[in-house]
Amino acid sequence: MAVAATAVGPLRVGGLELSSPVLVAPMVGITDAPCRALCREFGAGLVSTEMVAAEAVVRSTDAALHLLDFPGDVAPVAAQLVGCDPAMMADAAQVCVERGAVLVDVNLGCPVPKVVSRGSGAALARDVSATARVVAAMVQAVAVPVTVKMRLGWDASTINAPELARALQDAGVAAVTVHGRTRCQKYEGTADWAEIARVKEAVGIPVFGSGDVEDVDTLARRIQSGVVDGVVIARGMLGNFWFVRQAVHRLATGSGLPDLDFADRIALARRHLDMLCAYHGETRALRIGRKYVAWTIRGCAGAARLRAEVQTMDTRDRLDALLDRALAAGPHPEGWFRPAFVSGEG
Ligand SMILES: Cc1cc2nc3c(=O)[nH]c(=O)nc-3n(C[C@H](O)[C@H](O)[C@H](O)COP(=O)(O)O)c2cc1C
Repeated sequence: MAVAATAVGPLRVGGLELSSPVLVAPMVGITDAPCRALCREFGAGLVSTEMVAAEAVVRSTDAALHLLDFPGDVAPVAAQLVGCDPAMMADAAQVCVERGAVLVDVNLGCPVPKVVSRGSGAALARDVSATARVVAAMVQAVAVPVTVKMRLGWDASTINAPELARALQDAGVAAVTVHGRTRCQKYEGTADWAEIARVKEAVGIPVFGSGDVEDVDTLARRIQSGVVDGVVIARGMLGNFWFVRQAVHRLATGSGLPDLDFADRIALARRHLDMLCAYHGETRALRIGRKYVAWTIRGCAGAARLRAEVQTMDTRDRLDALLDRALAAGPHPEGWFRPAFVSGEG
């Protein structure tokens, strides 16, 4: 179906006005400060930390505080917390705000055993009243908007997203993001946007949709037809941050932006590596950057061979040389490939 070329205006979440309804998802191991800076540069309405354990925030562990580092020139940034104790989540939310978060999001979707076994993430979402108590304590504790990110339910027979969203709206959340999969689906299968639409029908606060957001026409149609108020990009941008720019531009103007050509895509990967090195130092930056390089070069001829080498690259110079070889090989004759399935943690 053709998409009407209409622009979509700004969106309010509580007292916060977002410049675009296109958001970038919290992602463990991905949405660090350099990633957030690039996504904001490309116009994302809001970027987020990965999930951070409230308990670690309250104990002020170095790792948690590092995840809550908000370099001054990138805003607005949300912090996402995971936990299930109302007082601890409220205290942790205050720390997030003191450190610069303009919104605090609650993770109600994390499927991994070490989180759900503690009653957090997708396990908390099974208990509507317990979740409402957590959210209410946080809303009381901070002046910024509190939002949640949930899945459809625990499994196909226990879908509770509309009921949960309604209860959390009553508890004071300013918006909900719904990942259109159940906990038991983890990251497999396709996201169910008809179920996401049922949440939108159930509440009056903004609803953001998450799941397989990787095509500009589809995401524009979903927002313009009112299925959701906004969308959340996750795996769709891995190896291709430009997708954020294309989505934002499409919603803002109603017209499309072309894909980056292969040389520009490689140049963007190099710029991201520069940002990673400047922020994390070379050793850590390479650990993080290698996976981005592997995703970026999926589109080049002979990618499988080059990708096998990426993990052995132990200096920035060697990674650069590998990108030179990818550039020389040129794009794959059959075109760009999206990153292979990436299993999430959150
Ligand atoms: C590597 C990875 C890490 C993730 N980490 C988080 C997280 O910290 N918090 C969260 O709410 N969701 C997390 N997610 C879920 C995404 O935010 C998103 O909802 C999900 O990937 C569905 O979107 P997609 O199908 O477009 O990837 C993660 C996903 C991936 C792939």
